[in-house]
Amino acid sequence: KPYVIGLDLGGTNSVFGIVDSRGEIKATTTIKTQGYATAEDYVDAACDALQIIIDQVGGIDTIKAMGIGAPNANYYKGTVEHTPNISWAHDSVVPLAGMFGERIGLPVAITNDANAAAIGEMTYGVARGMKNFIMLTLGTGVGSGIVVNGQLVYGSDGFAGELGHMIVRRENGRPCGCGRCGCLETYCSATGVARTAREFLMTSNDSSLLRDLDIDDITSLDVSLAAAKGDRLALSVYEFTGEVLGEACADMAVFSSPEAFVFFGGLTKAGDLLMEPIKRSYEKNVMPLFLKKPAQFLVSSLGGSSAAVLGASAIGWDLQTQGNNE
Ligand code: BGC
Ligand code: NA
Ligand code: ZN
Repeated sequence: KPYVIGLDLGGTNSVFGIVDSRGEIKATTTIKTQGYATAEDYVDAACDALQIIIDQVGGIDTIKAMGIGAPNANYYKGTVEHTPNISWAHDSVVPLAGMFGERIGLPVAITNDANAAAIGEMTYGVARGMKNFIMLTLGTGVGSGIVVNGQLVYGSDGFAGELGHMIVRRENGRPCGCGRCGCLETYCSATGVARTAREFLMTSNDSSLLRDLDIDDITSLDVSLAAAKGDRLALSVYEFTGEVLGEACADMAVFSSPEAFVFFGGLTKAGDLLMEPIKRSYEKNVMPLFLKKPAQFLVSSLGGSSAAVLGASAIGWDLQTQGNNE
């Protein structure tokens, strides 16, 4: 005691953690992110679930603030805006920080989910002590958190760091939820990997374990299971995904010269099957200057959604300190 609440609001699940000042998660609960008609309904369900874990740690008086990491979140405005992957925020601007603040009577801050993961890694994980690194989250979407000179880059409007929407293929680029074509996310998210597998299956006659599955139901998990068994086609899917990611990292390097790229999210379960192709492609594509002091390629050390929950809680702690200074 005291504690803050950290929420990792993802495309599929919303994970809440009650966190102490040393970054220890004392209680946690999860609800589905989707399936609500409105943002109000989502906040209702969230508050019901939260109440139970708040009671577990000694009641609302022990809680000082809340931090949220969410897709397409705006740190300055406290909003979630036009989120391609969440139906109740798809067509609107949702003042989520204020909505939670009203319900729980505490200060609430919000940042992008990948930004939260970056703060989590910087404070508690593999990026501890680093002043320049780029966090890349490879899940339902592709998110990023850019840290330069020890600070997260928010930009003029609070949306900076949407590297998942860098255009990486101009010709026949895949359509993206953001309304454009060829974004990194359409190739290197979990859904992108499944899509690559489908394309490879349809354009070749190579045998593959994946041919035993219904082609429309193939997921990135199926691809990684097949690749782990040495399936050539599945391995080539990772080779391609790593190639695209490595090219993108090479472009990011010229922008902020990070000392590391830190990866987090479902796709990283593939381990070296993905990391090795990324590194090879990076070295092949990066401007030679940047190989003098090569960037490290790291995987989150915090596991599961902890990086994002802890990062979200860290922005909650910031609010708390700001409050004390007033
Ligand atoms: C959103 C980002 C988010 C990422 C991961 C992307 O589609 O634009 O804001 O960080 O998905 O959830
Ligand atoms: Na970001
Ligand atoms: Zn896009």
